[in-house]
Amino acid sequence: MIAPSILSADFAHLADEAAAVEGSDWLHVDVMDGHFVPNLTLGLPVVESLLKATDIPLDCHLMIDNPGRWAPGYAEAGAYNVTFHAEATEDPIAVARDIRAAGGKAGLSVKPNTPIEPYLEILREFDTLLVMSVEPGFGGQSFIASVLEKARIVRGLVDSGELQLVVEIDGGINADTIEQAAAAGIDCFVAGSAVYNTADPGAAVKSLRRQAAT
Ligand code: DX5
Ligand code: ZN
Repeated sequence: MIAPSILSADFAHLADEAAAVEGSDWLHVDVMDGHFVPNLTLGLPVVESLLKATDIPLDCHLMIDNPGRWAPGYAEAGAYNVTFHAEATEDPIAVARDIRAAGGKAGLSVKPNTPIEPYLEILREFDTLLVMSVEPGFGGQSFIASVLEKARIVRGLVDSGELQLVVEIDGGINADTIEQAAAAGIDCFVAGSAVYNTADPGAAVKSLRRQAAT
């Protein structure tokens, strides 16, 4: 699956930018609060408008403090997948259950330096694991290949039937890095600059999809 990240799109024309990647599996929406990460983007009102503007399922990546307060609202509004950060809450299970109760798929994200082992036990409460391959906050950073070990561990648990979830990666995914991520067992690739900083975002999605499948 390919999930273009609108962080690199033109925020004044989000409906057009979503239409440009029609046929993508998910549309990745980076919500940043200026506290959990040193950058500020958009929130629920923009997501509500986007939901009316596109049929692509929204993959909301909440880089925010206190996700328990905010995450269920995104699911209630109709976001398909709502992912929050393990580092942002002491009770990830409660947040996941609230997202699911509100009708969304629940995702857990880990920053590059956060180990996965402490979370393996609770992943059964989740539909998605989002492995960050850059420090969250900004698009256009370089891929950190060492995080792929976390993807391999979780892929193994999915393949052996112990877990059932989508393994997603976010940060620095482009034509040079997507194949090694695919080889590590990633199911869903987020790509911001590699899609939107090109002349033809739709063609970029198709090209990444082809590469991931080889
Ligand atoms: C970064 C965001 C990413 C960002 C990725 O904190 O979570 O989704 O859009 O951008 P690229 O693909 O340019 O690394
Ligand atoms: Zn993201």
